[in-house]
Amino acid sequence: MLEGALKVVQFLDIEGATKTSTLFVIGGGIIQDVAGFAACIYKRGIPWTYVPTTFLAQSDSGMGSKAGLNYNGAKNILAIFSAPRTVIMHPSFLETLEEEDLLSGLGECFRLCVTGGDVFLARFRERLEHFIHGDRTVLSEMLVTALLVKRAVIEYDEFELNVRRAMNYGHSLGHALEALTENRIPHGTAVVLGMLIENEIAVSRGVQLAECAHDLLCTAAKLVNAHCLELLVQTDFLSVVSLLAKDKKSEGKTIKLALLHAPGHIAFHSLKLDDDTRSIIETAAGSVATKLSAYTDPRREAVY
Ligand SMILES: NC(=O)c1ccc[n+]([C@@H]2O[C@H](COP(=O)([O-])OP(=O)(O)OC[C@H]3O[C@@H](n4cnc5c(N)ncnc54)[C@H](O)[C@@H]3O)[C@@H](O)[C@H]2O)c1
Ligand SMILES: [Zn+2]
Repeated sequence: MLEGALKVVQFLDIEGATKTSTLFVIGGGIIQDVAGFAACIYKRGIPWTYVPTTFLAQSDSGMGSKAGLNYNGAKNILAIFSAPRTVIMHPSFLETLEEEDLLSGLGECFRLCVTGGDVFLARFRERLEHFIHGDRTVLSEMLVTALLVKRAVIEYDEFELNVRRAMNYGHSLGHALEALTENRIPHGTAVVLGMLIENEIAVSRGVQLAECAHDLLCTAAKLVNAHCLELLVQTDFLSVVSLLAKDKKSEGKTIKLALLHAPGHIAFHSLKLDDDTRSIIETAAGSVATKLSAYTDPRREAVY
């Protein structure tokens, strides 16, 4: 990814870009990360406009932007805050997306709505039913609902000094899953699976009710297709702890997980990076894989 960012820098240099030029970045989250990084470091930063073309980039990375490049097998190790001056979104981009990419964006909408609380979650669920029945026009409404949550958080804490850290919910385990599967599980789906595994951990620590975890799993099951579920089942979770050690939220021998207590209520918990934690994560991931595999919804089979 660093090579990609350097290519953009080279392009800017050849074109003679100045601090008054604007770089137009059109594409999904990867293009955003690479070009957003380049725009931020070139001459200490030049303005850029972002046109997110995937549902994931519209619902997640496009607002309150950060740019992160993976390094040495770990996600976003070379990372900065890099907000575009303008973001232009259009629903027509979604028409050509693969089903898996739509589900990935829906996953991030789900995560944001759970973070927002019961009212947002209820709106998400209602529209998910419409989507499952083939109505794609609800995607824009879901996007607006999810972005209301994100905007509220970012306006309060753009630089992740306090409440924005709750946005990490689902991401510590999600990033590990993305890395372990070499991105074959798309970002938003990895985050949904990360949320479910973290929910199991929260239940085992007594901070989330088992009914809450079950309720969220029943909705999440509609967002995870058979291919991603298969990849989850095959994942070697023994490697997860060493990957978590490389997570940006790790401090020495401790990982900080954003755990959900209830929709709208997330708090950080410290876990030692040791054999006990390895066993907790392995058990939680195994439990999620078993429960998702057992979940049968004829409508899901019909749609995905
Ligand atoms: N910077 C951030 O804050 C942030 C946040 C979340 C995720 N990310 C990163 O973003 C990446 C995931 O983003 P993504 O899901 O957009 O993936 P992506 O950028 O890889 O795009 C997914 C696929 O969709 C294709 N595509 C893009 N627009 C299309 C369209 N309109 N129609 C058809 N195909 C289209 C792309 O060519 C690609 O094959 C991950 O690497 C993740 O780490 C960054
Ligand atoms: Zn995300």
